[in-house]
Amino acid sequence: MPEDEIQDKSRRTFLKAMIVLSAGAAVAGVLKEGISNLVTPSVGLKSFPSLLIVGTDGKPIIADDIPVSTSIPFLFDYPLADDPNFLLNLGKAIPSTKVSIPATGGTYQSPAGVGPTNNIVAFSAICQHLGCTPPEIHFYPPGTQVIGTSFNGSTNPGYIHCSCHGSTYDPNAGAGVITGPTIHPLPPIILTYNSDKTLTAIGMTPGSPTIYGRVSDLSGGNPLSGSTTEVSYLTG
Ligand code: FES
Repeated sequence: MPEDEIQDKSRRTFLKAMIVLSAGAAVAGVLKEGISNLVTPSVGLKSFPSLLIVGTDGKPIIADDIPVSTSIPFLFDYPLADDPNFLLNLGKAIPSTKVSIPATGGTYQSPAGVGPTNNIVAFSAICQHLGCTPPEIHFYPPGTQVIGTSFNGSTNPGYIHCSCHGSTYDPNAGAGVITGPTIHPLPPIILTYNSDKTLTAIGMTPGSPTIYGRVSDLSGGNPLSGSTTEVSYLTG
């Protein structure tokens, strides 16, 4: 083969190799970005925030003003946006309780109630079975019929029940599991009762399950803006 033909052939081979390599690099780049988008969570947080609980008017909620054992309790987001929690005034002192986790056999200590008579507690309002949210998961005041169950006037001390598949939790005892199919209690929120009678959410209880569907309570969502979290109302 003449010398110039040999050079032409080498050049073509080299160019083909470069095209293949470039295409490969481009595909790898797209794949890397796609995988990164899949596994990169939302912004998240490094530590639990302190968020003052405020009303829809922006004014702090005064603990004494939280209705006692109402079927329309306040809800507030914590620790991230779209993490709803019940804020319950159970009308009596709620002691710290050892709560069992059926899934693991482990236990943890739930926070005692806070407020003027240690009567206020807060728990995640996302069912630990498959993630139903209010109004499917609902607080039934003491003595009322828990719809779809045998818990009634004499056997309901004030349960949280999820109508999706029947899980029941006891907020009087750390939101431990009363009936499945859930095998995890509702995670409790740690509250402080401030000298001006307001309430601040400051963390989640060590040893309790993470919020349903999340590897960590602090990732997988976006932080709330500012230093407050606003209540909304359970309807239905
Ligand atoms: S999601 Fe609540 S019981 Fe299944």
